[in-house]
Amino acid sequence: METKDSFIACPVCKTTHVSPAVPKKDGTFASTCVNCGHFFKFKSVAPYKSSVSFTVNGQAITVGNEYSPSTMLADYLRQSRVSMGTKVFCKQGGCGVCIVVAKMTLNPNDPPITVNLNSCLCPLFMCDGWEITTVEGIGSTKTTMNKVQSTLADYGGTQCGYCSSGHVMNMYGLMQKYPNMTKKDAEDYFEGNICRCTGYRPILDAMKSMVPDSNPDIEDLSNRLCKTTGKRCTSSGRNCEGQCSSRNDTRSIKMVFGDTQWNKPTSMTDLYAMLAQTRGQKCRLLGSNTGTGYFDQENISNFDVVIDISSIPDMYVNTYDAQTGTFTLGACCSLTDLMELFKTEAAKPTDNGNFDQLVKYLYRVASSPIRNRGTWAGNLMMKNKYPSFPSDVFNIMTVLGASLTTGQTAPEVISCDAFFKTDMTGKCLSKATFKGFGANDIVACFKVMPRSQNSLALVNGAFRCSVDKTNGYMVSGKPVISIGGISDSFYFIHVLGDAVAFQYRSGFEVLHDTRPLSSGVQTYDTNKQEWPLNEPLKKIEANIQCTGEAQYTDDLPAMPGQLYAKFVISTQANATVQSINTVEAMKVPGVVKVLTSFDIPAGAENDVSLPTLFTGPSEKEELFCSGKVMFCGQSLALVVAESQEATEKAAKLVTCTYNSIQTPLVSIDAAISAGSFAKKVMPDIVTGDPDQAINSAPHNINGSFHTPEQVHFHMETQATVCFPTEDGLEMVSTTQWPDSVQLAVHRVTGIPEKNIKVSVKRLGGAYGGKITKNNIVAAACGLAAKLTNRPVRMRLSISDNLLMCGRRFPHRFDYKVGFDDNGKLLGIDVHVYEGLGYLENENIVPFFSGNIDSVTTPSAQFMEHVMEKVSNTLNGDAIAIKRANLYMKGQDNRWKKKSLAVTPIKFGMSYNYSMYTMSVMIYGNDGTVSVTSGGVECGQGLNTKVAQIVAYKLGIPVDMISIKGNDTVKNPNNASTGGSVTSEECCKGAAKCCDELIANMKPIKDKMTDPTWMELVTKCYQKMVVLKAEYTVAGTPVDEGGNPFKYFSYGTACTEVELDVLTGEYEINRVDIVYDCGESLNPAVDIGQVEGSFMMGIGNNTTEEVVYDPTTGKMINYDTWGYHAPTNKDIPVDFRVHLLKNAPNPVGFLRSKASGEPPLNMSCSVFYALQNCIREARKDAGVTGDFVFEPPATRDKVQELCMVKPNQFVI
Ligand SMILES: Cc1cc2nc3c(=O)[nH]c(=O)nc-3n(C[C@H](O)[C@H](O)[C@H](O)COP(=O)(O)OP(=O)(O)OC[C@H]3O[C@@H](n4cnc5c(N)ncnc54)[C@H](O)[C@@H]3O)c2cc1C
Ligand code: FES
Ligand code: FES
Repeated sequence: METKDSFIACPVCKTTHVSPAVPKKDGTFASTCVNCGHFFKFKSVAPYKSSVSFTVNGQAITVGNEYSPSTMLADYLRQSRVSMGTKVFCKQGGCGVCIVVAKMTLNPNDPPITVNLNSCLCPLFMCDGWEITTVEGIGSTKTTMNKVQSTLADYGGTQCGYCSSGHVMNMYGLMQKYPNMTKKDAEDYFEGNICRCTGYRPILDAMKSMVPDSNPDIEDLSNRLCKTTGKRCTSSGRNCEGQCSSRNDTRSIKMVFGDTQWNKPTSMTDLYAMLAQTRGQKCRLLGSNTGTGYFDQENISNFDVVIDISSIPDMYVNTYDAQTGTFTLGACCSLTDLMELFKTEAAKPTDNGNFDQLVKYLYRVASSPIRNRGTWAGNLMMKNKYPSFPSDVFNIMTVLGASLTTGQTAPEVISCDAFFKTDMTGKCLSKATFKGFGANDIVACFKVMPRSQNSLALVNGAFRCSVDKTNGYMVSGKPVISIGGISDSFYFIHVLGDAVAFQYRSGFEVLHDTRPLSSGVQTYDTNKQEWPLNEPLKKIEANIQCTGEAQYTDDLPAMPGQLYAKFVISTQANATVQSINTVEAMKVPGVVKVLTSFDIPAGAENDVSLPTLFTGPSEKEELFCSGKVMFCGQSLALVVAESQEATEKAAKLVTCTYNSIQTPLVSIDAAISAGSFAKKVMPDIVTGDPDQAINSAPHNINGSFHTPEQVHFHMETQATVCFPTEDGLEMVSTTQWPDSVQLAVHRVTGIPEKNIKVSVKRLGGAYGGKITKNNIVAAACGLAAKLTNRPVRMRLSISDNLLMCGRRFPHRFDYKVGFDDNGKLLGIDVHVYEGLGYLENENIVPFFSGNIDSVTTPSAQFMEHVMEKVSNTLNGDAIAIKRANLYMKGQDNRWKKKSLAVTPIKFGMSYNYSMYTMSVMIYGNDGTVSVTSGGVECGQGLNTKVAQIVAYKLGIPVDMISIKGNDTVKNPNNASTGGSVTSEECCKGAAKCCDELIANMKPIKDKMTDPTWMELVTKCYQKMVVLKAEYTVAGTPVDEGGNPFKYFSYGTACTEVELDVLTGEYEINRVDIVYDCGESLNPAVDIGQVEGSFMMGIGNNTTEEVVYDPTTGKMINYDTWGYHAPTNKDIPVDFRVHLLKNAPNPVGFLRSKASGEPPLNMSCSVFYALQNCIREARKDAGVTGDFVFEPPATRDKVQELCMVKPNQFVI
């Protein structure tokens, strides 16, 4: 046995003795119990530990102060390469790509728990004694895949795959924690996992399929082997034969780092003593550290002393005193445990049914992995420290009337209200006490969020009052009202029950509470005779994406001598740089260089602009700002250092002064008013005489319409890993266009293109954001590698990625339109303005303004707007059609409105500037085939389609084919992967290569009788037949006679939405899409593309708003808190996608049509259905006439337009 102090308890009679001072020879102590005479030996250990031990996938690990105290588990897992399947994006708990599962014993008096958590917010040194499981620990394609992994892959739940391991681990953890989980749980508990590609439907289907109504087969889900014993080992609560955990060592921890101390006390006495000792120092109490996700100020690196309070048993004591009816809640009780406790109380046959309301409210706080770790006390402390924090927990504690125990040296009890005003510096919050509810109590909680879930509240509130139900629900006594987000009067109709008139009762319903389980239908044609052509084949990378084995750029191993890089970016737009001071940054240990525009070598250029392929001579795009700051977020300098941490520290110390500051132009309107136009303006395109047609039309209207910009929000941020070679540079980059990167690196380093190799295997999402915007990252790494002659690596943080790397363009359409009595357009005159930012290099106007009838992303939206306006003006047939589609819940329902909208699209597919080189190689020894591609796999299924074509052409199984990445040595001079045409063009190129190979082999084959593939290949190899072919697919530019659009893709979406007029929240009840994909090359992939891009469009139309600071020009919502990409409950409840049947495309490759971007355009049907709802709500409010409604339809905008005014609350 072990003792940690000078007292020891007899293991037989438990009496305590002073331990002997002198050990025996073997280092143990021996003692005879004076009470019972028992002789025993024990080992004395230090009273505290200075390292922490845990296991990852069964492997024992001990770490000490060689890591900094602010190292998060995710950083450790990746830096040590223990788990590269664990990804990182936001580092805020907002995306879920970092989720792992951990089994931990927090309170020694409780059994261990197993939870899914965000490893990006979990400090490494909090993991003492934990058993951590990562995606690699549950299965692999090299051994056996776990059922969660294989199911997600089989259901088509991956596209780029960057989110996949997070989804897998979330499900794995949930199934451990909730063995009886339901399908509803499987939807409810994925609110913290973002997927930008799939549109969630296949992910949810996969997860729900594993939750039969009976219990899931947990055994099957836990098929991982213990690294120590080689036997089955789980983190599921059963004993691990490998005894891999060190959780028995519960000593407190004390670790000393440069200027920070880490302490883990194990008793309240120790805690109070520490708080007393640390007076005057900056001290951070750690509940679970999730608060850092929101408040960067709470980062451990900002404190002198860290006190991890998660191992103090008293902090977990949750009790109920039946005599006084008082509940006591320990401060380390997690939000999940709080929910469980409330659920248990609500289920009891007492008056505490109201706890159910609090459970529902807590479901809407954060996400399941955050609630698993985040404590209620930490949440309240955030409200205490930062009063503007819209805490939901504070509302809950207030309606509970909780008393809080706080203190620095001894406990002190205060009310919630008093707590809010108390200076808690140096104090701890140890428990809360509160009473239950009375029989006549009514409790209601509300939370309006910018999207359906996992967001902080726009407005939140919790209400409690006692009513006399026998007397018209008269409120008796003083109600408790806790409300955040608004300060003026409010209304509480919930109390009135049936006393409210029918048409007003819909105000009671919280839309999201009644949302049913989502479901989907997918239909398509496929001809088995032709398989693998047009087979709905699973993506060839799906398995390795779900096991975490798929490698992305930043997963590449560190190279010896590798340096890290980080940009210093401008904080002001439209100004001139006066000075950049790097002196303090250079003093940070580990910093090797800070590069600025002065470091561009002689003969090289400070220019990373794109190749001239698309837009003619391009404008100069500086790597480092050399004077005029064009936008807020422009790179000023690059810190190059031995560690990531050093780059981050040093980058903060580079200072910049500006002069000639002018107001930035952050909107199209501002730019037009200032006459700020790009030089390159398209010539007018005129067909017929539009003025005459408009002026002579029976009706004409004019107007202006804006479509919003959108952040790409790829979760793999821009990254490059670069190393010097004997004659130049090699790099792996997150680019949709390696050739563009090669040019940028050539320009800034002066190294000839022949000596620069750029490659890319796959991208973790791109959506156009990696066509040219990786240039700057790659060029900076290239320059740093050249100047230091060492490998250099950089991965942008989420904020740098959003601030530096551009957006999808906003547009303004100024129009005049003439039409007849039937609404038929007779003439239209449109001026299209595109918000290019500061640079005109990538403008897309030439691609769509040539034919405004055809639609690209913004013009579909615009044409729908015009049709709406025409309908409104006529108030005749056209509007009658729309009105016929409009129906309302309960006919005259005041607070909930339902509406339909139908949006057709016609999308012109342009192949003029496509150019992709494909190579197909047959290996003579084993007959396998590899393909190198001029396109880049970003999740769109390019590799899968190419493999299908090659398999079809050569008559071999798909698994004999391997699609390699794109690189500038094997396949130079490609166009970028984009515009939705690359998959098709690469397939065409691969097919041509196959034709050549077949022709090469034909003379040999003709001499053989029915040879197998292997026999044929062997023979050809023996006979020196060339078994490699290359083909370049090239378009014909328009000015050389190419058609602007080779063909059109068509589609229609019909959308039903339901709007809560009171809050501006809405549900998309159902969407039916018919999309014309010709004869789809792979219907499973194409349906995924339709669903994913439709959801991206929904984000653009509803929740994703880019907000700028008008003074500095900075995008102010540059992270997961402010920028709201859709989550899994923002998808349609009922999502049906049909690929048009029997629709071969005579001019498409193998009769197919492209998917990808076109379906995005149909998503504006959500916006127009909402517009219909708003129009009806306005009528109810007595407001008639037209109104301005432009996307994105954010909750606040929608609610405001409904014109709800206090005087309408007459019940
Ligand atoms: C992605 C995400 C989404 C979220 N969404 C919501 C939401 O919708 N609504 C909402 O209300 N909240 C939300 N939160 C906040 C979340 O509830 C809190 O982060 C969590 O409850 C804090 O608990 P913690 O134990 O991690 O605190 P920590 O991060 O450890 O601590 C937070 C602060 O409290 C102090 N502290 C912690 N415990 C004590 C104690 N016992 N005594 C004294 N000081 C203490 C710390 O020193 C620190 O200053 C969200 C958080 C994240 C990361
Ligand atoms: S990286 Fe951890 S939640 Fe986003
Ligand atoms: S597959 Fe989910 S983010 Fe790409």
